Amino acid sequence: MSTDPKKPLRSARWYAASDLRSFGHRSRTLQMGYSYDDFMGKPVVAIINTWSDINQCHAHFRVRAEEVKRGIWQAGGFPVELPAISLSEPFVKPSTMLYRNLLALEVEELLRSHPVDGAVLMGGCDKTTPATIMGAISMNLPAIFMPAGPMLRGNYHGKSLGSGSDVWKYWADKQAGKVSDAEWRDMEAGIARSFGTCMTMGTAATMMSLAETLGMTLPGASSIPAADSAHPRMASATGRRIVEMIHEDLKPRDVLSRGSFLNALVVQMALAGSTNAMIHLVAMAGRAGVPLDLDDFDRVAREVPVIANLRPSGEYLMEDFYYAGGLPALQSVLCGHLDLSALTVSGRPVGETIAEAKVYNDEVIRPLDRPISTAAGVAILRGNLAPDGAVMKPAAAEARLHKHSGPALVFRDYNEMAANIDRDDLEVTADHVLVLQNAGPVGGPGMPEWGMLPIPKKLLKQGVRDMVRISDARMSGTSYGACILHVAPEAYIGGPLAAVRNGDIISIDVAKRSLQLEVRQAEIDRRLAEWSPPDRTFQRGYNRMYAAHITQADKGCDFDFLEGTAPTPEPEIH
Ligand code: FES
Repeated sequence: MSTDPKKPLRSARWYAASDLRSFGHRSRTLQMGYSYDDFMGKPVVAIINTWSDINQCHAHFRVRAEEVKRGIWQAGGFPVELPAISLSEPFVKPSTMLYRNLLALEVEELLRSHPVDGAVLMGGCDKTTPATIMGAISMNLPAIFMPAGPMLRGNYHGKSLGSGSDVWKYWADKQAGKVSDAEWRDMEAGIARSFGTCMTMGTAATMMSLAETLGMTLPGASSIPAADSAHPRMASATGRRIVEMIHEDLKPRDVLSRGSFLNALVVQMALAGSTNAMIHLVAMAGRAGVPLDLDDFDRVAREVPVIANLRPSGEYLMEDFYYAGGLPALQSVLCGHLDLSALTVSGRPVGETIAEAKVYNDEVIRPLDRPISTAAGVAILRGNLAPDGAVMKPAAAEARLHKHSGPALVFRDYNEMAANIDRDDLEVTADHVLVLQNAGPVGGPGMPEWGMLPIPKKLLKQGVRDMVRISDARMSGTSYGACILHVAPEAYIGGPLAAVRNGDIISIDVAKRSLQLEVRQAEIDRRLAEWSPPDRTFQRGYNRMYAAHITQADKGCDFDFLEGTAPTPEPEIH
């Protein structure tokens, strides 16, 4: 961070010279109807807008971008809106995770190639939060994140409905014949009532909360419901603040420290946040040059109880969380676990930003001595089945499954699983361990959210609602159950998960953090030597680049050529 008030603006390289190129930059800006007073000598602020006609969670972003611009104009800046890929979670196939790094790269290059001095990052729908922040960290211009905010709570026949979590629950009931087609249609119409992100503590709410915890949003921004009038006010305040940040030269790598990342882990555990956050935080830390690994998550999870009573692990929804005081209130309860000196984009340390915060409903944000679960928010399991680690969310699983041994029922890929899981003659009991192979970063490809394998229909009819499931896939943050995810190394590149066969005994013990395939190592080695992966060869295009450069889950699934803090060179201006 520089405090030199005379430091020239980066955009001056485009606008301030008296050469032929600068003539072009000025005349083309005048062509858009701006006058010299609008842009000359002013900080130029990029608004990275992930709006599209097919991103339902960002449907308000065209209007919000105008509200961000209002703040930028008020503070004496010049706003330029730069659209970026919107990554709508439900519509983008096979998985938005395939494209997180593409958006990160797009943000980095948009900022690098344009005459901008800083950026407002507009995101919220799952991958858009980590992706825009990752790109901004790498470019390291002043940047602030403007979260989309959660949608209003769902409503069905007078009952509240939570995104994702209640779909899985009622779908199981529908499969068991307990929900009619008409009731199902009523849920379909009632579950998503406004613009904004999923309103359970899924990946979107987790990542927006963690962006705030990391210090990358205005204090209190992440919990504001998208449809609340406080949201556009926050958008304008974000626009005003980025102009100040440019004058202060306050950049992402000034804000992000080991302390801010450890704070994010504390909050993730207290929220029982999405397991996806672990991949994203490791990737973000890698871009910031901050050491962070899976053992950090496991250690913090043992120290910090789940105190946010939010679905899928608890009862309430994000709207309730906001009324209970929102993220600053939760942080105030956790202050003994937080590094209060960690800086935020407000220019103040987190200890100051939460000093006045209060909890208004201690059923939604519980005190530390009355957690909603004594089980850890996440656990890192290791063993001969996952030498580089696997992730589980014990708080979201039936406690009887925290220690379990059972025979494997193996599906070689998603299509094989989908074709067979509901067969009446499937040989499966509630004690079986369902195994899905080849659903990882390369094998998926894109590590789709297939990790909450469906409970077989014949077991649903018997009343079974949870069983142990293991994969190298991810799981939606709105999902729940005894799902062991992110197994690394993945099956497709020859990880031990590829060696599992039907009937092999698999043992898990959450207390001991162990995951074992009860087969002799010599036999595992023999099977792997004979094994070959299913064909996933891509001859050309983005998928080919992706497969060549993606890292494994424990390393954050970044592209190897985007990791680290090597400087992004400024473009030549000719
Ligand atoms: Fe956009 Fe869930 S679908 S956040």
